[in-house]
Amino acid sequence: MQIIHTNYELINILKPLKNIAFVPTMGNLHAGHLSLIQEAFKKTKYVVVSIFINPLQFNSNEDFKKYPRTLEEDLTMLKKIGVPFVFAPSESEMFDPLQTAQIHLPQIAYDLCGKFRPGHFEGVAAIVNKLFNVVQPEMAFFGKKDFQQLFLIKELVRQLDSPIKIIAVDTVRHEDGLARSSRNSLLNMGDRKKAPQLFQTLSSMKEKAIKKSLSFSEIEAFGTQSLNAAGWIVDYLTIRSSQSLESPVRDENQLVILGAATLGSVRLIDNIEFCIHD
Ligand code: PAJ
Repeated sequence: MQIIHTNYELINILKPLKNIAFVPTMGNLHAGHLSLIQEAFKKTKYVVVSIFINPLQFNSNEDFKKYPRTLEEDLTMLKKIGVPFVFAPSESEMFDPLQTAQIHLPQIAYDLCGKFRPGHFEGVAAIVNKLFNVVQPEMAFFGKKDFQQLFLIKELVRQLDSPIKIIAVDTVRHEDGLARSSRNSLLNMGDRKKAPQLFQTLSSMKEKAIKKSLSFSEIEAFGTQSLNAAGWIVDYLTIRSSQSLESPVRDENQLVILGAATLGSVRLIDNIEFCIHD
């Protein structure tokens, strides 16, 4: 396994290769990340995994500082599964101190998580764009766990005519339903036991939407009240079109319920997709 730290080196190593699959991460790798890598290996042997904790996408310095950093363990895991290239750049390698260029994102980037984490998606877009430019992959893998991020990356690639194919991978969960996340390790024991309530609430909202026993806004209010009553602080729990992330239009069939809520001091996100009719 080659561990590469500079853009220059990476560009030179990858230059002769075709059919590169790219999996960008912030490290602290878990089964969710590994599933992206497994999907990448189904397409090619040239898999590049990046590990970079991107300061631009954290809207609080405290959140950035407490983000789990486990580079040695991550590298051991990647070596074991045969990843040929790992890109682990330093902050100074990724950011030009004179950089002012920014990507102006579609309006939906300022809703949902974008509303509660100002600047977050601009930070994600900036780093993903830079990484795409140095890796120049044929395809890149993103998890549905971060549904809005996946949506915006697809939009970015589409609007800017990038030739990179974006491949979406299903959310990997713990047995109790909690979506795998690097942030789960920050939960205390009591909160870890309560954490599956987020997915349970999304699931019961989905059942109610399919049964049509309540209106969407009543279902959203039900979900929010259930989590608030259980001690969570809900940022949003909302039923949207999975195609546009906007509020569903009449008779819209492909839907997603997106949620973000904080337990203790840990903010978790999750979502569930479904169709109203078969
Ligand atoms: P990170 O949170 O490390 O996630 C890296 C990739 O793993 C993302 O595409 C994310 O959606 C996916 N992922 C995380 N948990 C998952 C799960 N339980 N099941 C399936 N996939 C999962 O997302 C980021 O990093 C950053 O924003 C990044 C794209 C690297 C830009 O900095």
